[in-house]
Amino acid sequence: MDDRSCLAVILAAGEGTRMKSTTPKVLHKIAGLEMVAHVMATAGKAGADAMALVVGNGAEQVEAALEGRAGGSVKPEVHAQRERLGTAHAVLAARAALARGYDDVLVLFGDHPLLEPEVLLNARSKLAGDADVVVVGFRPPVPAGYGRLIESSGQLVAIREEKDCSEAERRIGFCNSGLMALSGRCALDLLESIGNDNAQGEYYLTDVVEIANGRGLSVVAIETSHESAHGVNDRAQLAEAEAIWQARTRRAMMLSGVTLIAPETVFFSHDTQIGADTVIEPNVWFGPGVEVASDVRIHAFSHLEGARVEEGATVGPFARLRPGAEIMEKAKIGNFCEVKKARIGEGAKVPHLSYVGDASVGAGANIGAGTITCNYDGFNKHHTEIGAGAFIGTNSSLVAPVSISAGAYVASGSVITHDVPEDALAFGRARQVTREGRGKLLREKLSGDKAK
Ligand code: UD1
Ligand code: CA
Repeated sequence: MDDRSCLAVILAAGEGTRMKSTTPKVLHKIAGLEMVAHVMATAGKAGADAMALVVGNGAEQVEAALEGRAGGSVKPEVHAQRERLGTAHAVLAARAALARGYDDVLVLFGDHPLLEPEVLLNARSKLAGDADVVVVGFRPPVPAGYGRLIESSGQLVAIREEKDCSEAERRIGFCNSGLMALSGRCALDLLESIGNDNAQGEYYLTDVVEIANGRGLSVVAIETSHESAHGVNDRAQLAEAEAIWQARTRRAMMLSGVTLIAPETVFFSHDTQIGADTVIEPNVWFGPGVEVASDVRIHAFSHLEGARVEEGATVGPFARLRPGAEIMEKAKIGNFCEVKKARIGEGAKVPHLSYVGDASVGAGANIGAGTITCNYDGFNKHHTEIGAGAFIGTNSSLVAPVSISAGAYVASGSVITHDVPEDALAFGRARQVTREGRGKLLREKLSGDKAK
């Protein structure tokens, strides 16, 4: 397909009324990525060289949100559809892009986040053959509400909206997904021939099929899965799409060598990367920006976001890795630990109940239970440096900015406010005082007081 140029026109003018949201519909997210960005990524994988995004109200919001979003290396151009006059009218809002001339034109919906690149590649290969218009159909369990695809000896002759169907046509299970591919030779001409002579007074993209047939062009339907054609109109369908996306991704993860003990309880983001032979225990959440290497174990109930975990490391149970956490090879983050913007060196251990933020922990260091890096003074964040092989005794507070050099010991229960040099032993607590027999005397005094 590399020799053919391709424009993807993505209709994203959903008003979002059924979403009951101030956010434009296509900016609602699946797996942490805006629905329309999923569609852009898919178009990119299908080889689109240019993308025209057609947006209605909230154009600025859409443009700002998509700044830097994936469409491969393609930066989308945004076109506004000021009045909502139908799908064909929407495509023509991108007239300037269409007029530049492409071999293939794909028309995609921004609220179909589960679309897969294979179906677009299939449509493009039909255009590379002798098809002029390719419509993507699907077979929903209940076809009610969708346009039906009317075929005759391999040619698609019409798309009939349900309300216009005859009794026999209504029984057709093959429905219009809305996605279409048009040969660039005739796309603009066909689109401009569509009228609005119908009950709604709208310009329907689907009319392209009968117009093209009237001109003796080749019009065909191809099929995609029901899931791939899943459109989102409200938040219930958004959750359905999320569930389908997660199920697909869990399967792909397992087939790539990741063990998921209870796959249905693990949630990934659009960009989660996990190496082979890593084991993910039940109830783990991956927010955006997580990269996990091979041979890692993520124990149950952990929450990771913006974090990197290197080979052989273990995390959790009940661990939270926040953005900027880097867990190096064979390091251990144990239960009830939070790590933020901190590098935990190779083989270092943070086994229990600690907060390590804005810090660097050297290789092989041991951070005792309950250790806290006191990184925030209410205005600024400060850095804690812990050297290789250092030992931080349990229940210590490290008041940043502070540095504990390699091989140093910090006594349990310390509040460390000054730097500790290499191999030193630091006590940051009051000296213990013990008085023989005074416990007994105190008990007698207190019980006597109570009797009075
Ligand atoms: C459309 C198809 C129908 C198909 C169904 C699949 C037509 C006439 N009908 O119906 O055959 O089975 O999709 O879901 O195309 N849009 C704009 N501007 C407009 C109108 C629509 O950008 O002026 C966008 C919408 O945001 C949406 C898409 O086009 O992403 C589809 O529009 P919608 O009104 O939902 O079409 P359906 O009635 O669902
Ligand atoms: Ca729709």
